Amino acid sequence: MTGEVYYPHKELFKNPVFKNMCEYKEMVEEFEKDYEGTWAKLAREKITWFEDFKQTLDESNAPFYKWFVGGKLNVTYQCIDRHLESKKNKAAIIWEGDNGENKTITYLELYREVNKFANLLKSLGVKKGDRVVIYMPMIPEAAFAMLACARIGAIHSVVFGGFSAEALKDRIIDAKAKVVITADGAFRKGAPYMLKPTVDKALEEIDFVEKVIVVERNNQDIEWTHRDVSYNELIQNQPDECTPEIMDSEDPLFLLYTSGSTGKPKGVQHSQAGYILWAQLTMEWVFDIKDNDTFWCTADIGWITGHTYIVYGPLAAGATTVMFEGVPTYPDAGRAWKMIENYKINQFYTAPTAIRLLHKIGADEPKKYDLSSLRILGTVGEPIDPAAWKWYYDVVGNGRCSIVDTWWQTETGGHMISPLPAATPFKPGSATFPLPGIFAEVIDENGNKMPAQEKGLLCITKPWPSMIRTIWGDPERFVKSYFSTAKKNGKPVYFSGDGAIYDEDGYIWITGRVDDVINVSGHRLGTAEIEDAIKYHPEVAEVAVVGKPDEIKGESVFAYIVLKNPENIAQELEFIKEVNEIIKKEIGAIAKVDNFAFVPGLPKTRSGKVMRRILRAIAKGEEITQDTSTLENPQVVEEIIAIVNSCG
Ligand code: WT7
Repeated sequence: MTGEVYYPHKELFKNPVFKNMCEYKEMVEEFEKDYEGTWAKLAREKITWFEDFKQTLDESNAPFYKWFVGGKLNVTYQCIDRHLESKKNKAAIIWEGDNGENKTITYLELYREVNKFANLLKSLGVKKGDRVVIYMPMIPEAAFAMLACARIGAIHSVVFGGFSAEALKDRIIDAKAKVVITADGAFRKGAPYMLKPTVDKALEEIDFVEKVIVVERNNQDIEWTHRDVSYNELIQNQPDECTPEIMDSEDPLFLLYTSGSTGKPKGVQHSQAGYILWAQLTMEWVFDIKDNDTFWCTADIGWITGHTYIVYGPLAAGATTVMFEGVPTYPDAGRAWKMIENYKINQFYTAPTAIRLLHKIGADEPKKYDLSSLRILGTVGEPIDPAAWKWYYDVVGNGRCSIVDTWWQTETGGHMISPLPAATPFKPGSATFPLPGIFAEVIDENGNKMPAQEKGLLCITKPWPSMIRTIWGDPERFVKSYFSTAKKNGKPVYFSGDGAIYDEDGYIWITGRVDDVINVSGHRLGTAEIEDAIKYHPEVAEVAVVGKPDEIKGESVFAYIVLKNPENIAQELEFIKEVNEIIKKEIGAIAKVDNFAFVPGLPKTRSGKVMRRILRAIAKGEEITQDTSTLENPQVVEEIIAIVNSCG
């Protein structure tokens, strides 16, 4: 891993925050010299405070760090109100529907819609600190809903619309939501799809949810229950002024559930001030956002990427953000490029899996459109392979755009490692260097920096403003998940779950998760969750799930299944269909099994622990380097290899 080097086309950048690597290094040094002072300066410069903070960083209860202690603000004031003086008629959101219709919402309109929605929530009894689950399609009302919660200090928890009723139910219960906001459904690939029936199902055995607010988007028939209210009706009578709740820097802003290596998904809790500061700063640093830019992030708002780079970051920066209801392959593989041409998009941000798919089904499509407005192409979610990088660079970016390969996580709130578009020499496949202020390092468990070309743990060795504050309702799991793997100078540091390598030039190459989390099309899934679902099948005795490299999806789900009575299974494919139905019900279609092997047993240690490392290697077709002689059942390894090889 050293790779070719590409240089930014400086003429694309008029006044970037970082013009060259010297400026980058200066800022890094500034943070090294005066960590808190530099953060304090940025926070005072960027955030419109109702009341200044008293202390920059409180480490007294580490790792429960507090930032900008005593500061008072409202995130919606930062994202909307403060822009009204100079940008009230500027487009805040440009929305495009599945069928191509579009809508522009100015900052003044956004202000009104968010205030009306905030008043609607208040009229239903929602108060500061209450949890509101948002289960919505990609329509402007989803952004209004998030911001309306922030306006009144309610904590939103957006659940991706592709999750099943069971998964939604778990999240509603864990957060103990008072209200759920949803839509009848929306449109995808020219046809309506539904969300509301899933909410009804999720709520069947829940009695604490008081109201379900339903946005009528696709106008298909739905059932209206006693707790449902129509957004379209109630919004009409709401006043369009709602005084922003005065929030403390450290009050929770939102929860977002994500998969861990064990057990149920965890509710990652983010704060107000630290989160919004970093969301805005990374828009300026990594995306070089300028006043006349149009920014498009293709994520769903159900993921952190959608939170930070469709809603909070662009709006805090006073930018124009594009929101898209459809998929980039409908009506054809030129849809995204057509949108870039139509809206003169300047920054386009998507996932490697989408790039690979669009490459595969329409390698020459980008050439049919005028993409000359583009300056920056972003990628996120998984390592990007050099081949996909090069197509993105050459064909989409016409050999001139900067490619920002941004490494970060739900837990980090915003970008951690990324090129700076006008400064950093790019290497296809490397996320390059940590952003200024972020002490991301590849170390061993004791905090020693790894030498070049040796894989280590990707850790962040100083707290940072937009970091996860805790896991909702489970502070112990927070400490255990993130602060119990590595130490530096004897102090626990944040461990990301990823492995990484430095090359000789100090570039960071992410190698992927080292824990039992897999990444399917940029979606993060816990192997334990999938195994738990598969175990519901009455014929399954044991199961182990690992990731298998996949050309388009990055990874796909590989299940090793031990059957109770192998002789009962006449039709293997039928059986896998049943398993996938269960997964669809328990989690959602994104977690379905693509590859499977019926095996006589799983390799285990003498203490009964499944040796997943071996199973991972087999799925990848790699050689097994581990000594298997100490296993309880070493012979099973050869048997599994034979079975997997015979499946092809
Ligand atoms: C995991 C986090 C952050 C938004 C999307 C995913 C992987 C993310 C990159 C990248 C290599 C990446 C990591 C990370 N990942 N970005 N640029 N290069 N890997 O958020 O669901 O919290 O997943 O995605 O494995 O740990 P998430």
